[in-house]
Amino acid sequence: MATPEPGPAGAADHGARGAFSSRTVFILAAIGSAVGLGNIWRFPYVAYENGGGAFVLPYLVALLVAGLPFLLLDYALGHRYRGSAPLSFARAGRRSEPIGWWQVGICFVIAVYYAAVIAWALRYTFFSVDQAWGADPESFFFGSFLQVGDPGVSIDLVPGVAVPLLLVWVTVLAVMALGVEKGIGATAVVFIPLLIIAFLVLVVRSLFLTGAGAGLDALFSPQWGALTDTGVWAAAFGQIFFSLSVGFGIMITYASYVGRRTDMTGSGLVVGLSNCSFELLAGIGVFAALGFMAQANGVGVDQVASDGIGLAFIAFPAIINEAPGGAVIGLLFFGSLVFAGLTSLVSVIEVVISAVRDKFETGRLTATLAVGVPTAVLSLLMFSTTSGIYVLDIVDHFINRFGILLVAVVSMLVLAWALRALPGLAGHLNRTGSVPLGAWWRVMLAFVTPLVLSFILVQELWDAVTEPYEGYPAWMLGVFGWGVCVAVVVAAFVIAMVRWRDGTPLTPVQEGGEF
Ligand code: ALA
Repeated sequence: MATPEPGPAGAADHGARGAFSSRTVFILAAIGSAVGLGNIWRFPYVAYENGGGAFVLPYLVALLVAGLPFLLLDYALGHRYRGSAPLSFARAGRRSEPIGWWQVGICFVIAVYYAAVIAWALRYTFFSVDQAWGADPESFFFGSFLQVGDPGVSIDLVPGVAVPLLLVWVTVLAVMALGVEKGIGATAVVFIPLLIIAFLVLVVRSLFLTGAGAGLDALFSPQWGALTDTGVWAAAFGQIFFSLSVGFGIMITYASYVGRRTDMTGSGLVVGLSNCSFELLAGIGVFAALGFMAQANGVGVDQVASDGIGLAFIAFPAIINEAPGGAVIGLLFFGSLVFAGLTSLVSVIEVVISAVRDKFETGRLTATLAVGVPTAVLSLLMFSTTSGIYVLDIVDHFINRFGILLVAVVSMLVLAWALRALPGLAGHLNRTGSVPLGAWWRVMLAFVTPLVLSFILVQELWDAVTEPYEGYPAWMLGVFGWGVCVAVVVAAFVIAMVRWRDGTPLTPVQEGGEF
């Protein structure tokens, strides 16, 4: 049976789904979800790779054209229909339920590998104390730490990854079992202020390193030519969706736990702008540190900046080796990654748990175990072996493009054109929102965003077909790339065929958002 969870009046409908106790807790939880690994190790490098300062323009366009409108769409769906992603879509239109399950599947896939990166960061937090990586962090990361073998699938377990990964899963499942307010809400209330303080100290420290200016120059010197490259625009849109946690069910789920009279549009702006500020701050902190590193080695910043995984786990240890007070920088940096990652991982896995609870009417503990144990086991089997890093790289690349961006386009088209749901959803948010949603919002979601994203997706599809990603063997790309993306869609249609036990999605929505 569901464990009743207290919540604000009118929030805990559909049995005892759980609820955030206040708007502040909801905002902190939503920021906790948005600010994650994507902000700290992904954004700085993506920005640098895609035109430096010129990336800021596509990034802001993506934020305004797609990120914020879509964030408010997710809020409207969850807040109006008061359900997990599948239940909210089913209530919006009976036949659109598979879209919700598609999003649940994407979250399942992300959770499985996201936990592994947090586990690496956890281990590196401890390595920072005595710089256990030695003088050659690159060989240490791939050799001693991950024990990487040839591309393929191996069952050789790496205990140094398996143990922290198990710890991450035990922590996350304990939080999930505690519920929306006492688990997710409380974690955000504790971790987000800590994260902000740790990261501000880190950024200020980095800015005082010699050579910091050269790093910032590298990040912010615009290469305007990059604006004509569609890949740069794809990177900006991909980054915004992943980073804001929009389009894959998270914000639908969180919004369903918010009191009916809460100002959702104002909250959305606070969350969206906080996430982007944190992202820019992360870029500044990381590149100031890279500038120091470049100067210390007498090379250009481009020679010390590497890809996402490398930036955090190779370049940063090298910086820590050389910077005065390196151990503190290491603790702050890897500790921030762990905090930011955990508050995002709980939101990703909550999408799956809440969907299972709604559909199969299980209690929180049952759903947590039913979802959490298989996810954790799969995560351990796939990512604490000597081949984990290859699979992670492929799954992450494909699910972000042909999962998140694709489901975003499909859901916009279905809601805008098949269900004609946008006016009703705008009306719902406008009843309590402090920022009115006018025609601009509907125009963005019905025309501009789907068109831009479709164009980007076609380009990306062409690139993926004509140029095998990173030269991996075709069977690996087929199984862990295309295969995973297709399996998620097929599974979504199959689960959506299972009947609801009590006709739940047919519950009528009365105007005013009340059932
Ligand atoms: N929004 C989360 C991140 O940026 C998933 O990592």
